[in-house]
Amino acid sequence: MHVFITGGSGLIGSAVVAELLGNGHTVLALARSDSSATALEAAGAEPLRGDLADLPTLRAGASQADGVIHLAFNHNFSTPAALAEAVAEEGAALAALGEELIDSDRPFITVSGTPSVPGRASTEADPLPIDGPVGGRSRSVMSVLDLASRGVRSAAVRLPRTVHNEGKGGFAGLLTDTARRNGVSGYPGDGTQRWPAVHALDAAVLFRLVLEKAPAGTAWHAVDDQGDAVRDIAAVIGRRLGLPVEAVPQHMFGPLGPIFATDQPSSSAHTRQTLGWQPRHPRLLEDLENIQP
Ligand SMILES: NC(=O)c1ccc[n+]([C@@H]2O[C@H](COP(=O)([O-])OP(=O)(O)OC[C@H]3O[C@@H](n4cnc5c(N)ncnc54)[C@H](OP(=O)(O)O)[C@@H]3O)[C@@H](O)[C@H]2O)c1
Repeated sequence: MHVFITGGSGLIGSAVVAELLGNGHTVLALARSDSSATALEAAGAEPLRGDLADLPTLRAGASQADGVIHLAFNHNFSTPAALAEAVAEEGAALAALGEELIDSDRPFITVSGTPSVPGRASTEADPLPIDGPVGGRSRSVMSVLDLASRGVRSAAVRLPRTVHNEGKGGFAGLLTDTARRNGVSGYPGDGTQRWPAVHALDAAVLFRLVLEKAPAGTAWHAVDDQGDAVRDIAAVIGRRLGLPVEAVPQHMFGPLGPIFATDQPSSSAHTRQTLGWQPRHPRLLEDLENIQP
């Protein structure tokens, strides 16, 4: 397939580009800067210059492709307003990409987080939360899945809180950044809350499998670790950085504080059984040993 990808220069997207190219697909990749275009070209993809706000370019990319994978997101968590702007930008981009694919039966894969369900691991059948600071992202994903009734083979890959590679990425990466800034490896609450995780190289395989064979309107979980206690994550980060490990107020994590404090284990049993996906790369606590002081 000739695949148009957004976010192909990111932590997850670069793994997805490599996975696609290694399995007989070709890739056209949105690039918002010269350096991203150069990196994408070096990886073997054809760059298409533009950004998420550039809707005509998004439509042009989708129109040339046999399938679309969307991963780009402007991760500005500094203020609630900045986050809301990024969520709105992504929603408009997804709507433009989707319009281009109507009545084509082409695959359109987007990304969301795994949901949290009190007292148990969430499954692929659980609905996404539509409230909270990133509730708008869920609504955008649901609009994409609704395109199944309009001739689009739409699907969502739901990612756990941390998608990591070489000790970097996701919520654990944000904990590491916060620890470096504050001189303490902190966690909100009592630290027993669990976050799911997956290695980016394993998540990339799932994106390819979903592109190749997921039925329209379906959601999948790219979860390897069902849930690591946040205190255990902070402990590895503190040891690697030589910093004390302790509970800190939730507001230190900005608009994401309430999400950081939530217990949110997640399962991928249905995804593994149905698509034959099997994670093979290091789990989070092992991968965090790659953090350099
Ligand atoms: N990593 C995780 O643990 C995790 C967990 C759950 C969900 N997710 C979601 O998975 C997706 C990919 O995450 P990631 O960790 O790979 O993120 P990342 O490393 O921050 O990469 C983001 C990608 O999006 C591109 N991008 C950002 N803003 C853009 C804009 N306005 N226009 C065009 N491109 C733009 C970036 O381009 P440049 O390279 O040019 O900056 C980069 O390719 C995101 O939607 C993220 O929210 C990630």
